[in-house]
Amino acid sequence: MRHLTIRGRDLAVLDQGRRVPLLLVHGFPLDHSLWAPQIAAFAADRAVIAPDLAGFGDSDPRGYESLDEQAEDLTALLDALGLGRVVVAGLSMGGYIALALWRRRPERFAGLVLACTRAGADNEAGRAGRYQMALAIEAQGMAAAAGAMLPRLLAEGAPEGLRREVEAMVLRQPASGSVAAQKAMAARPDASPDLAGIAVPTLVIAGEADAIIPADEARAMAAAIPGAQLAILPGAGHLACLEAPAAFNAVLGGFLDQVDAGGPLG
Ligand code: MLT
Repeated sequence: MRHLTIRGRDLAVLDQGRRVPLLLVHGFPLDHSLWAPQIAAFAADRAVIAPDLAGFGDSDPRGYESLDEQAEDLTALLDALGLGRVVVAGLSMGGYIALALWRRRPERFAGLVLACTRAGADNEAGRAGRYQMALAIEAQGMAAAAGAMLPRLLAEGAPEGLRREVEAMVLRQPASGSVAAQKAMAARPDASPDLAGIAVPTLVIAGEADAIIPADEARAMAAAIPGAQLAILPGAGHLACLEAPAAFNAVLGGFLDQVDAGGPLG
């Protein structure tokens, strides 16, 4: 129940329909199940939209060689669902896509959550590594992605059961989508110049033990976004939403409450 002051008196009101919808954008090479703990925590009292991006999960396996195309899919998805402004939460590649969406459609944002992600583009070595991984996935399938990424996706002390769950998630992705996504990530522009212009409430979340995107990058990104909040989750690795779900949900839930309280929705 929310409490509103109505004509000078406190009125308790169930106001589910006015909670800002939450769009969850998963990372690579994963699908919407990355967000299982957040769907469980937040879908009871707000619209939670968690697509399998094109090229992942049960969606069209072809994918895109451009993250702008993924961002356009998300816009069309919001249109198809009749949603105006939403909180967009992206983890890692999902964060790159959230920043691409911000560049193209800022009017669709009620808030932004950037989790375990970065604003910068790849350097030459990073791009070369992506093309190598794309070739390896073409030749060997998703086992190549699992072999390269699994050791760094989770923090060292992550439970074995979670490790197996993430491995299964990686292995069930269509190879074609992951090949396209590697090329798309290699081609993404540097979003750093956009950060100063982000004019919606923003939360940056990082895993303290992230071996793929160090927490220092989150600190710098949060410092560059006006008014951004920052949460570094102790002990969590790159998949902080799965590794530290209680802590992740506590900061995300607090942020969503603030956005809900912030004013009328578009
Ligand atoms: C991800 O988790 O989405 C990837 O690690 C992102 C990347 O490869 O840059």
